[in-house]
Amino acid sequence: MSYQKMKGTVDIFPSEASKWQYVEQVATDILRQYQFKEIRLPLFESFDLFARGVGESTDVVSKEMYDFYDKGDRHIALRPEGTAGAVRAFVENKYYGPEHHKPQKYYYIGPMFRYERPQSGRQRQFYQLGVEVFGSKNPATDVETMALAVDLFQSLGLEQVRLVINSLGSNESRAAFRQALIDYLEPFSDQLSDDSKRRLHENPLRVLDSKAPEDKKIVANAPSVLDFLDEESAKHFAAVKEQLDLLNIPYEVDANMVRGLDYYNDTVFEVITDHEKFGANTTIAGGGRYDGLVETVGGPATPAFGFGFGLERLLMLMEYSNVQFPADPQLDVFIVTIGQRASTEATKLAHALRQRGLLVEREFMNRKPGTQFKSADKLNARFTFTLGDRELEKNTVNVKNMATGQELSMDLADVYSKDFRENFQEIKDELK
Ligand code: HAM
Repeated sequence: MSYQKMKGTVDIFPSEASKWQYVEQVATDILRQYQFKEIRLPLFESFDLFARGVGESTDVVSKEMYDFYDKGDRHIALRPEGTAGAVRAFVENKYYGPEHHKPQKYYYIGPMFRYERPQSGRQRQFYQLGVEVFGSKNPATDVETMALAVDLFQSLGLEQVRLVINSLGSNESRAAFRQALIDYLEPFSDQLSDDSKRRLHENPLRVLDSKAPEDKKIVANAPSVLDFLDEESAKHFAAVKEQLDLLNIPYEVDANMVRGLDYYNDTVFEVITDHEKFGANTTIAGGGRYDGLVETVGGPATPAFGFGFGLERLLMLMEYSNVQFPADPQLDVFIVTIGQRASTEATKLAHALRQRGLLVEREFMNRKPGTQFKSADKLNARFTFTLGDRELEKNTVNVKNMATGQELSMDLADVYSKDFRENFQEIKDELK
């Protein structure tokens, strides 16, 4: 019997994982500057939370859910995204209460699940880094959060990305726009792609961001959502643009950008790359304002804003852009052992050196000394510490600088002494 990973999942081995750690490190440093705090949430929630929160007519809910009934007959779904769960947690734990600072600013990093057709940059289990802000209607929140996204991508060395924004207006103005859009599209319904024909009445806004060429032609002359904004939404959008200008953050307005999830109102945005290896218009990050969701999930009316991005897509873009990842820190010591007694001593030696803060690997396989030195070289060890019968008789260890070949003999008692860290610095100096 042989097993293979499930379609749309990936295994991440250490050489890749260290790149993930780098991205997460850079990201969490920036998130700290912006004062976003981590929230850790369940990977599964009730199916109903996503159906109501994300929207029944969205692809995410209608086609892509990993849902099942558990042994207690509860209808459960693996989370397809992080926002609905964050809102559920915020409401259930009453973080809207007066004792909590406003706005609450959270971030999360973790796997999401969507039953999609796997392709490059699209998986069934993928990682998202997401942020959510609860309690501020101030356009400064929209701008700060978008600036964070831009800052993040820039800090990771990505230059070929564009910030694209739009406003969907209030629920009321969106309803008026929706009707106007249906009225415009209906006469063309025969010419629309099959997907768009289906969406025309279910979720007509999605026709606007269809990639099918036949749809694009028709959509080019469709009414613009921006012409339907009421006064408050228009003012909000103007303030967002003004403050983006204030930060000198370049952006484009695309009135046809509507996002794939139902909970948005007013500002929506995406960070898009046109890198040739991805094909034009690949979304790296997306988000926006969702002022109605907390209420939908049973909390008090609470404005909210957030975004998420796929870590796989981000890492792919970094590779394509030839971003240099930092090397792993160098191994300080590889312990070479000759014989069983030496192997036992190496257990003690490795432990002592690690407790003194060094990065240490040791021989486990009792291989020939020459092979062990080759390993030490391959692992890029700064020093080898060799233990053989000769050393053990004298209670010493042979220390060798792998770069220069210089060697010296050291008393084991010195290595085991409390101030070995300083001694190690001396060894480094002496064996330069
Ligand atoms: P979303 O646009 O559905 O938004 O997903 C955000 C990002 O997740 C995408 O831009 C993409 O990078 C990544 N992504 C989505 N699906 C896949 C997939 N199958 N494989 C790989 N990466 C994928 C949301 O999920 C919202 N919750 C964002 C948000 C937070 N809005 C407000 N707050």
